[in-house]
Amino acid sequence: MPVETPLAAADWAAYYQLRYAVLRQPWQQPPGSERAPDDDAPTTTHALWRAPDGRVGGVARLSPGGPGQGQVRFMAVAPPWQGHGVGRQLLEFLEAEARRQGLRELVLHARAGAAGFYQRLGYAVVEPSHTLFGVIPHVLMRKDL
Ligand SMILES: CC(C)(COP(=O)(O)OP(=O)(O)OC[C@H]1O[C@@H](n2cnc3c(N)ncnc32)[C@H](O)[C@@H]1OP(=O)(O)O)[C@@H](O)C(=O)NCCC(=O)NCCS
Repeated sequence: MPVETPLAAADWAAYYQLRYAVLRQPWQQPPGSERAPDDDAPTTTHALWRAPDGRVGGVARLSPGGPGQGQVRFMAVAPPWQGHGVGRQLLEFLEAEARRQGLRELVLHARAGAAGFYQRLGYAVVEPSHTLFGVIPHVLMRKDL
């Protein structure tokens, strides 16, 4: 499976560059806005999907939520690779890691336009969530592991 945890410095750079390009730059957010304080926490698991040519084509992360709960954030697939099963592989990688950690539930705040993707992977909408940058409505979703 071409999903791995980034280790090399070049992979980490590509990881954050893709997160920025897909999730922040289109809304004119400054470089650095793609980073979260707990990215470096030992309890955060990062996933990177590598294309056959070696380039990084997708990223995502898992971090702790409430008791027995994990949260998926920052799922981003490079535009040329969207719709080719990359997001599914990333999410299944993080779900396997969450089960390995003994977690019983995953939650996430999905962009409304991506909610159908998560529903396809077994997540259910709980309630409307925040609106990012004043224009991107989110929904809270969850899945039993
Ligand atoms: C949303 C995203 C992560 C999905 O990853 P992806 O690699 O494009 O999705 P996959 O090819 O793995 O799709 C898996 C299934 O979900 C479906 N799907 C994918 N995106 C969808 C969407 N936006 N709405 C509804 N269904 C979707 C696919 O058709 C596929 O269905 P299938 O099992 O019947 O073939 C990716 O498109 C992306 O990065 N989009 C831009 C950024 C974004 O919105 N990130 C999520 C922030 S919460």
